[in-house]
Amino acid sequence: VRRIGVGLLGLGTVGTGVFKTLESNRDVIVKRTGLWFEVRGILVRDTGKQRRVAGIQSLLTTRFERLLEQKVEVVLEAIGGVEPARTYVERALVAGCHVVTANKELIAKHGVELERLARQKGVQLLYEASVGGGIPILGSVRHLLKSNRIHRFSAILNGTTNYILTKMESEQVSFAQALADAQGRGYAEADPSADVDGVDAAYKLAILGRLAFETTIPPAEISCRGIRDIALSELALARLLGYRIKLLALGVQYGEKGPISLQVGPTLLPLSHPLARIEGVHNAVRLEGDVVQDVMLVGHGAGEKPTASAMAEDLCNVFLLPGDRQDSLAAATLLPPDAGGSRFL
Ligand code: NDP
Ligand code: HSE
Repeated sequence: VRRIGVGLLGLGTVGTGVFKTLESNRDVIVKRTGLWFEVRGILVRDTGKQRRVAGIQSLLTTRFERLLEQKVEVVLEAIGGVEPARTYVERALVAGCHVVTANKELIAKHGVELERLARQKGVQLLYEASVGGGIPILGSVRHLLKSNRIHRFSAILNGTTNYILTKMESEQVSFAQALADAQGRGYAEADPSADVDGVDAAYKLAILGRLAFETTIPPAEISCRGIRDIALSELALARLLGYRIKLLALGVQYGEKGPISLQVGPTLLPLSHPLARIEGVHNAVRLEGDVVQDVMLVGHGAGEKPTASAMAEDLCNVFLLPGDRQDSLAAATLLPPDAGGSRFL
């Protein structure tokens, strides 16, 4: 068994889930991978806060440098936002550590440069948890659809908003009540306007679109509308007419190397549409490729356990699939950025 030192950034919903998973599923991980992950330090804002895991007080710190002093080989980032997460990720990569992150805003805005830095340093930057919670969607695109030209995907990429819409429609609760419930379950972002205004889904669309269409996608190029102003009466009327309202993320490429359309917005879907049946915190991605035709992946899109699952899988894959990952990342990131926004409709 190989012991691997891990530094954990953040001990909120996701950080706690990852920590607990590495403890509770250590036997499975060791049996399947021969790897024993040992968390040697946990960065938080407030070391005095009450935590949901016992026996970790001595691991907590507010100083990032302390983590790197603990001989860690990999850093798990679950802080969120751009700064200071970006600085910590850069410093970890420069120090020769692999990084696994759940941070879609960081990857959507700075993923390309961070991946370049990782490659220069001969380490890996993985971010499966940043899109679709527990659904292994990025891995599926990277590893399982290499021979396809993906020309379109439609997806539900935000658990909070799908939970809100489902709860409003099925229980007749107000938007505010449904949002508060989603927050209580740990689904929402620290600032939930990112969820309800569609921005979180747009970050995920940018990441997924970059892999699927092999081009850099600035999140600002994505047309984005949220669900804040959707009323109970509109959900009921849609249902009466045989539709459901879903916050849909759509990516379409018109012809090979043709223009790309990316948008997030509330959309009427006929009840028979497979995405109309996605309930609660579930996310789903429907990919269309020239050979595979269509594939749909469904799973929990947010929450402690599904997100921890995605991060723990990445953590194992850092040590199990190094060459394979590097090649896949190179394909998506070494393309030059597009000139202006001309490729985006
Ligand atoms: P939380 O707000 O629950 O936790 C954030 C953690 O980071 C806290 O432990 C906090 O410390 C720590 N932290 C925040 N800022 C700093 C800082 N400046 N320095 C040191 N520590 C800091 O967030 P989540 O766990 O929900 O989300 C974390 C990341 O995972 C985000 O990028 C989010 O988008 C992503 N994500 C979240 C999912 C979810 O379902 N919640 C699903 C998929 C991705 P303290 O505890 O002391 O306050
Ligand atoms: N706030 C996000 C969501 C977390 O609700 O989908 C998962 O990325």
